[in-house]
Amino acid sequence: MSEKTITVSVNGAYMTRTIEARTLLSDFLRQDLCLTGTHIGCEHGVCGACTVILDGRSARSCLTLAVQADGSEIETIEGQGSVDKLGRIQEAFREHHGLQCGFCTPGFIMAITDLLRHHPLETDEEIREALSGNICRCTGYENIVNAVRELAKERGPLE
Ligand code: FES
Ligand code: FES
Repeated sequence: MSEKTITVSVNGAYMTRTIEARTLLSDFLRQDLCLTGTHIGCEHGVCGACTVILDGRSARSCLTLAVQADGSEIETIEGQGSVDKLGRIQEAFREHHGLQCGFCTPGFIMAITDLLRHHPLETDEEIREALSGNICRCTGYENIVNAVRELAKERGPLE
């Protein structure tokens, strides 16, 4: 068994763990760091449930080895807010009923975090296209698009 010690920053806190070299980032977050907000759906890079921010851009944690993230900065859903104080994207999902079972929601919120930082999101068509890498089995997407439209309006145009 090949092991490696890695150090990552997760939501601003440095964590060092010794792991099997083959450990996926999704399993590392959930099992080694007990950050179970990152969900695992398809495990094949299709559904987006496992999306996190890795060094500033959204990434599929089910397609990333934890050792590839050594030295990186990772943001997960746990960094967005708390039950007592929701983050702004979580709040917008609540206001617009952008979730039902919630399984896909952490992945959507992390993907939207990246999109709001880097994507114009000027039209509904652009929003739908930008969200096309995340699958939701419950909502029909309309309310998610409504939430993102409001968030993009609040943010204003990208510089
Ligand atoms: S679990 Fe990673 S994309 Fe589906
Ligand atoms: S809210 Fe159930 S899969 Fe999206």
